[in-house]
Amino acid sequence: MCGIVGYVGNKAATNIIISGLHRLEYRGYDSSGVALLNPRTSRLNIVKTPGKIDDLETSLAAEMPAESTGATLGIGHTRWATHGEPNRVNAHPHLSRNGEFAIVHNGIIENYIALKSRLAQEGFEFVSDTDSEVIAQLVEQCYEGDLTRAVAATLEMVEGTYGIAVISVHHPSTMVAARKGSPIAVGICDGETIVASDVSAIVQHTKQVIFLNDGDILTATGDNVEVVSVKNVPVSRETTHIDWDIDQIEKAGHEHFMLKEIHEQPTAISNATRGRLVDSEGTTKLSGMQMDPYEMARIDRILIAACGTSMYAGMVGKNYFEDFASIPAEVQQAAEFRYRNPIIQRDTYMLAISQSGETADTLAAVREAQRKGATVLGVCNVVGSTIARETGRGVYLHAGPEIGVASTKAFTCQVSVMAMMAIALGRTRRLSTQVGQRMVREMMSLPEMAQAVIDQEEDIRRIAEKYAKAEDFFFIGRGYMYPVAMEGALKLKEISYIHAEGYHAAELKHGPIALLGEDVPVVGLVPDIQGKDKTIGNMQECMARKAPVIAIATEGDKDIDAHCDDVIRIPPCAEFLTPIPVVIAEQLFAYHVAKIRGCSIDQPRNLAKSVTVE
Ligand code: AGP
Ligand code: GLU
Repeated sequence: MCGIVGYVGNKAATNIIISGLHRLEYRGYDSSGVALLNPRTSRLNIVKTPGKIDDLETSLAAEMPAESTGATLGIGHTRWATHGEPNRVNAHPHLSRNGEFAIVHNGIIENYIALKSRLAQEGFEFVSDTDSEVIAQLVEQCYEGDLTRAVAATLEMVEGTYGIAVISVHHPSTMVAARKGSPIAVGICDGETIVASDVSAIVQHTKQVIFLNDGDILTATGDNVEVVSVKNVPVSRETTHIDWDIDQIEKAGHEHFMLKEIHEQPTAISNATRGRLVDSEGTTKLSGMQMDPYEMARIDRILIAACGTSMYAGMVGKNYFEDFASIPAEVQQAAEFRYRNPIIQRDTYMLAISQSGETADTLAAVREAQRKGATVLGVCNVVGSTIARETGRGVYLHAGPEIGVASTKAFTCQVSVMAMMAIALGRTRRLSTQVGQRMVREMMSLPEMAQAVIDQEEDIRRIAEKYAKAEDFFFIGRGYMYPVAMEGALKLKEISYIHAEGYHAAELKHGPIALLGEDVPVVGLVPDIQGKDKTIGNMQECMARKAPVIAIATEGDKDIDAHCDDVIRIPPCAEFLTPIPVVIAEQLFAYHVAKIRGCSIDQPRNLAKSVTVE
């Protein structure tokens, strides 16, 4: 998921790798490292460190043998941990057992546990907790004199996603790289080749770039690049001329990180669900829960503690635990949890939901629940974050770094993860194989559904333009749409500074309706779910008070036009999944309103990405 830079050529590799890693910093990372082929000893020297690239530079100056700084072959990495804490040992590059092969990896190796135990039986020792280290050991095991073939044989054994770069003491002027689901670009210069996970690390050296396709394996020297398939069939890849500026590339062509992260949601959801949906058994596999069916069946209450967007995701999750697993669940604002002396019974489990894993109030709730004897599971995005560490077990989102202050892809991945947890828990109770299978299959189509909403961005932008001058908004919904109404309002107020309230549709007439009028638009969340008709009735009440009404409804709902002024359409989907497409529509709406109003979208005033004070 994070950054790779590799160099082979006729200049000193270190500076090119370090400046490339600096270019990749915007992606978010937690540790970094470099491996260089020492030209005097012909050995691989590695320096790595948690923290920033500046720290890596300090460590390089202190620890790297002087002659290695003249190395003309090397690989570097910025890691965004998915497996194992972000510390020095887990940072990449990883060396193979005999120290002759070094690798850097972006992505996730899904079958690493099986591969690791097989290799361990064969005498390979592992030093890190990462999934990536198996690649280094496998390359060593498969090596018979041809590095490319050893990498190909390795890749035939691994399942998951990867962008990798590999170097070896046996090939002082060769680098091998490959990709599947995680990008690799190859910069072609005179006498040198630069491999990187992102062109922003390359463009300062050359504009001539080859992009690898999934399944491609690259063998590069300073003067030559060859691409073959895993089956060793040569493939030809065109050279592209890059004419973008650095800033555009860092945001993958998007104007803001928030927009990039909205657009990343199909991939983020694929990563969050990959390897976890078991169609054949109609269930899900979440090894981080560390729970056998016996323990799952015993849980008799779930407390969810979280703040902000994570709390709204938790409210969707509450419905899942109650609907699929019949486990009573409640959501607590994390700060409230700590001070109201909650009741914890023997089989009460707590879920602490936090993108960053560092939110002070959520952490305090975790500690209080643990003091009272609850079992606490974390649902975090950032691996090795304080909440993830202190809870010890839980489920990671694998959504990739979220940089924009307004949380987007974390919400959709949190909801996906809780749906998977509830399915697993439900299967230990009344949820049948058939129903489980149907739900798992529906979840498999989530990335496609998310993309279908993103494809309507232009229509959503047009509607945003029409309402961008309003100073007050209401978002209304019921059932699964109630928390989504609150999340839609939160997105709008955070980045556009418009006063927005998320309300239960039925509650409107108990007070807030007094505020409605022609300057106060109401967004009605009415996809095809239970209670939709009642919310439509509430929308009518708003129209009767002259409030403009925007509906978010299911494609093909012809009647909806009669009940609103504008419609944003989401693809048809199972009721329990509607929060995902609807929230994506709200994110795009908020984004475009804020953009039209000229707001600072990635760093809104007064807000911090992670709130580490109470
Ligand atoms: C979301 O857009 C907000 N910036 C904020 O509400 C956030 O969700 C909240 O601070 C919780 O953060 P966490 O998920 O990192 O714990
Ligand atoms: N899964 C690998 C790890 O946790 C790679 C993470 C990344 O893409 O940075 O080390």
